[in-house]
Amino acid sequence: MELIVTPTYESMSRVAADRIAELVRANPACTLGLATGSTPEGLYADLVADCAAGKLSFAEVTTFNLDEYCGLSPEHDQSYRYFMNHHLFDHVDIDKARTHVPEPFGADLAEAGEAYEAAIDQAGGVDLQLLGLGHNGHIGFNEPCDFFPAKTHGVVLTPMTREANSRLFAGGIDEVPTEALTMGIGTIMAARSVLLVVSGEGKAAILREVLQGPVTPQVPASILQFHPSVTVVADEAAASLLA
Ligand code: F6R
Repeated sequence: MELIVTPTYESMSRVAADRIAELVRANPACTLGLATGSTPEGLYADLVADCAAGKLSFAEVTTFNLDEYCGLSPEHDQSYRYFMNHHLFDHVDIDKARTHVPEPFGADLAEAGEAYEAAIDQAGGVDLQLLGLGHNGHIGFNEPCDFFPAKTHGVVLTPMTREANSRLFAGGIDEVPTEALTMGIGTIMAARSVLLVVSGEGKAAILREVLQGPVTPQVPASILQFHPSVTVVADEAAASLLA
């Protein structure tokens, strides 16, 4: 595992954006796994700027997002499809038909999960999976539990995750969906490389557990210790408790 510690959120974003840009330049038809949340907003802005400056093209790139809430339409401003359009897809030269966000809109979440896995397989798998880190160690919406879920599946969100995300909903926690569809830990571990971005002192304790604690499904991201190609980009605040 490679750990890069940067002085600030802005430099964390730039380093992570450069990793993605390098891959896209080397392999213009690559497949990216993408994340939402506050942490990657800066790196998406950097990628948009690179594209506007003519330094980068997403014309042949395929993307698969980690997760999506149940019960929010793609037009809802807190849906992850909306987030991706707003922060990246609407501002770069990507073909939207090649962008995928899980679609938990039908009655059958298991079926939606299987369809998503099949689409990832058909695209030849994910070359680089971008991840943020939840305060409880979640990646995607894989919450702490007694096992590592393998495939894309439906989940009930924990009160901690709903509380953390409620800051983004105008109506507070009551508006935060209770369920989501997420790539599984096995889906994430099948990516050929992983880029984990972590920012702020509020994530310092969990980052230490993830990188230096035991590998356990109670800290889902700890499984990344077993992935052969992981880069962690953390700002100094997030890295402050690492040994
Ligand atoms: C988002 C996702 C989540 C977030 C995590 C951290 O697609 O899968 O696991 O990465 O909740 O969110 P932020 O960056 O807002 O702290």
